[in-house]
Amino acid sequence: MATRRPIVAANWKMAGSRQLGAELLEKFALLSDSSAEVVICPPAVYLDSLQQQLSEHSDTVAQHRITLGGQNLSHQEFGAYTGEIAGSMLNEFGCRYVIIGHSERRSMYGESSDIVADKFVMAQKMGLTPILCVGESLAAREANRTFEVLNGELNAVLDKVGIMAFDNAVIAYEPIWAIGTGKSATPEQAQEVHAFIRQRLMQLSPYIGEKIRILYGGSVKPSNAADLFTRPDVDGGLVGGASLNASDFVELCRIASESE
Ligand code: PGA
Repeated sequence: MATRRPIVAANWKMAGSRQLGAELLEKFALLSDSSAEVVICPPAVYLDSLQQQLSEHSDTVAQHRITLGGQNLSHQEFGAYTGEIAGSMLNEFGCRYVIIGHSERRSMYGESSDIVADKFVMAQKMGLTPILCVGESLAAREANRTFEVLNGELNAVLDKVGIMAFDNAVIAYEPIWAIGTGKSATPEQAQEVHAFIRQRLMQLSPYIGEKIRILYGGSVKPSNAADLFTRPDVDGGLVGGASLNASDFVELCRIASESE
């Protein structure tokens, strides 16, 4: 089996501060080498100061493979799109990743699967690795439609870009009912869905299916992370609430490194 380096990605959402970045880097400096990749996705206005802070802590950054990511990008390249952020701008401020299709963007800002697919294309065009979020609502799960929903969200992107584009992508499985609710999926539920996603991609390309990293997101915290991250098809986490506490987030990165 291919070894997949785990990723722990912090999704600060519309929270955090400059100070949080400084606290995080202080805590990372105390942690011995970790093998997990760490991605911090702050609100875009903090990218500049975080990039600067990272360059001042280059030893820590190298040791822990810390990189930056955007929380969203425009599906347009540049131009008159008030309030939007271009992929090239994320790139300019040191981002290597960008979260695409988070359920909060899909449900509150009307992002269709088609737009999500366009954003996936734009991210890659701008040299960023998309972290594509997929996940079912509670109603869909209770109606036994989980796999149908996931297939729909995956197909929208696959139909547009083809399987080989997933060579440079990460998937995050985020059951909507587990996001910010404190109610995580059980490790068994997470593993079942991750295996399903991997199989789906494996059918199209065994190479991609084996290689792609699939993160779990939804109320990940230090008390449940080890059980989730050690499942065979779970390659780390996309973390919201717990990423706003520097000690908890660094602990999650330590747990992910040990799960490899
Ligand atoms: P949560 O958020 O960890 O607060 O549940 C995860 C996410 O939405 O990415």
